[in-house]
Amino acid sequence: MNLQDKRVLVTGASGGIGRALVVRLLDEGAQVLLSGRDHGALSAVVEHHPDQERTAIFAADITSASDRARLCDFASRWRGGIDILINNAAVNDFTLLMSQSAESLETAIATNLTGPMDLCRRLSACLGRSEAAHIVNIGSVFGSIGFAGNTVYCATKFGLRGFSEALRRELADTDIRVHYFAPRATRTSFNSNALNDLNEMLGNASDDPVEVARHIVQALQADKLEQVIGWPEKFFARVNAVLPRVVDMVLLHKLATIRNFASRSTSATVGRPTSNFVHSTAKPREFS
Ligand SMILES: NC(=O)c1ccc[n+]([C@@H]2O[C@H](COP(=O)([O-])OP(=O)(O)OC[C@H]3O[C@@H](n4cnc5c(N)ncnc54)[C@H](OP(=O)(O)O)[C@@H]3O)[C@@H](O)[C@H]2O)c1
Repeated sequence: MNLQDKRVLVTGASGGIGRALVVRLLDEGAQVLLSGRDHGALSAVVEHHPDQERTAIFAADITSASDRARLCDFASRWRGGIDILINNAAVNDFTLLMSQSAESLETAIATNLTGPMDLCRRLSACLGRSEAAHIVNIGSVFGSIGFAGNTVYCATKFGLRGFSEALRRELADTDIRVHYFAPRATRTSFNSNALNDLNEMLGNASDDPVEVARHIVQALQADKLEQVIGWPEKFFARVNAVLPRVVDMVLLHKLATIRNFASRSTSATVGRPTSNFVHSTAKPREFS
């Protein structure tokens, strides 16, 4: 697939992987609509980029149904409508379930699952007008392997993977392709210090977000439908699907360590007050 002039909406565009995705997409000639809650952070992603005239910004909280409606309305009209939706925004709260607040649990489901599903629903008519549309849902290796300390996050990413598979089949006779790409641990501010420390202790590899974005864009260009990024995680995901009891036993040996690190995390209040959404049509710096 050639990304030249494709109109792409990226959620979570101010985050580590989101920023790298925006830059990579611009480098490939795409036009990018950036979304996240913080207009200033989104502006900073592209303010020095030579192709910033090919970008626009729309600040929205995807846990809010009215923000989602406004974002989709804008995306449907921006440059005639988008060709590609990348559902990338997400939150995680690394903690044991019994210590996780109800608010954190609900925010994770709203951000990681309800938000992406509703954006797909609301934008399907707009994507249907494109000659070759794509939905890219960014999952996680934790969408294939249940991992202690990440129970709610795993539930949302397992859900997103199932949703992507079902939607791909539902849209199989249309021009909308549905992809699900799953990074492993990546060096962004997404993970708490406790989770980073645990990864280091367990010897889990952690990727550079620029590399992850490169993999995602290349997988999209190659029309891959589903991919876990990174070895041996790709292999473990397959083993978990076929022999989950074996993975149970392997992870049992790590449980005391995981519990120890997870109990150092205090459940985050990951939600924020709904921002004032602000949008632009051409040069992000011109809009307040
Ligand atoms: N980093 C990892 O280790 C890792 C591993 C596997 C998979 N992933 C997946 O990769 C994707 C990107 O992760 P990342 O590491 O780049 O995370 P990040 O650096 O924490 O960025 C998260 C992004 O989501 C946005 N966001 C969060 N809550 C939002 C809300 N309610 N409404 C709108 N935007 C919201 C944030 O912007 P604001 O806060 O400004 O709104 C930010 O742009 C996620 O889907 C994550 O699950 C990450």
